[in-house]
Amino acid sequence: MFSKLTVRDARPRGQNVLVRVDYNVPLKDGVITDDLRIRASLPTIEYLKKKGARRIILCSHLGRPEGKKVPELSLRPIAERLKALLGEDAKVNFVGDVSGPDVEEAVEKTPVGGILLLENLRFFPGEEANSAEFAREIAESTHADLFVQDGFAVIHRAHASTDAITKEIPSVAGLLLEKEVSELTKVAENPAHPFVMILGGAKVDDKQPLIEKIAPKAEKVLVGGKIAADGYAVPADLTDKVIVAGDFATDGEGAKLDIAEAEVDKFIEIIKTAKTILWNGTLGKVEDPEFAKSSEKIAFALAEATKNGATTVICGGDTTGFIENLQAKNPDLQYSLVSTGGGASLELLSGLSLPGLENLDE
Ligand code: 3PG
Repeated sequence: MFSKLTVRDARPRGQNVLVRVDYNVPLKDGVITDDLRIRASLPTIEYLKKKGARRIILCSHLGRPEGKKVPELSLRPIAERLKALLGEDAKVNFVGDVSGPDVEEAVEKTPVGGILLLENLRFFPGEEANSAEFAREIAESTHADLFVQDGFAVIHRAHASTDAITKEIPSVAGLLLEKEVSELTKVAENPAHPFVMILGGAKVDDKQPLIEKIAPKAEKVLVGGKIAADGYAVPADLTDKVIVAGDFATDGEGAKLDIAEAEVDKFIEIIKTAKTILWNGTLGKVEDPEFAKSSEKIAFALAEATKNGATTVICGGDTTGFIENLQAKNPDLQYSLVSTGGGASLELLSGLSLPGLENLDE
């Protein structure tokens, strides 16, 4: 199912290991509001430490600074959160550059078994330009012997840290990348049946490739969210399996902001029969608790299905953010995969080629 080499195939003992993570996390007034992506990077970091890596050098982007230094998009606060998550004994350093003398010195000063987080890759135009020279400078300054791609959420981009770097250093997949790709590929190519897809959110155009690739394999496709409220036009070849919510909870002005309770109950009856469930897009305006009710009920129904042995996969930034908040209040809610990837998971499920995955060693 997973054809690339992973950290488990590598020999990181005594090596400087450069790890591409995706720490593009939501920030509000400089405070991290959802650390799923940071927590998701821990298994690979812990694994490399356990296997005796000399130094673990992490690199990531944050936001879209477009090749300029934007202080609010510095990765420095992420280093602090990472340290808190890894425990007080963890040695996590930060350096405000990605290559050059400051990085060389910071690498030198990072103790054996320690972690060094580099500055935001997208402060430099070479990153998005997929510059070979930029990638080479990073490889040389960090003295990296091995590159580990673990930033699943960014593998749909052909950037220096996802593409060009793989030509400089032996490159393998991290544990998060392996898990995400394996689970999502299973759903896309070999789902256990009955297979139910739940679609919500706002922009139907973004979901078109997903609908085209996945819907033919599903027994049922349940549609809610703004897509349904706007009157989703079911493609002619899918009329036998697509169920679009037709009744809604509204605000004082009649805006359809959530699907009606009776519609959710109908959806849940179908979910109960499924062995695989893929959910992308919330079913209402979840920022407002009044209109988060249907999404909450679906989240509980999926957790129940997981307990009963179904494979449950949740993807899409808004949906996973919503699930994260719900899990914070209800830690019992568990799923097979809450994907860290927004665009990456959609592109993988839609069968598109992913540069950050394709170029890893086999
Ligand atoms: C994401 O959040 O989807 C990834 O980090 C990629 O970010 P980008 O869309 O700015 O390339």
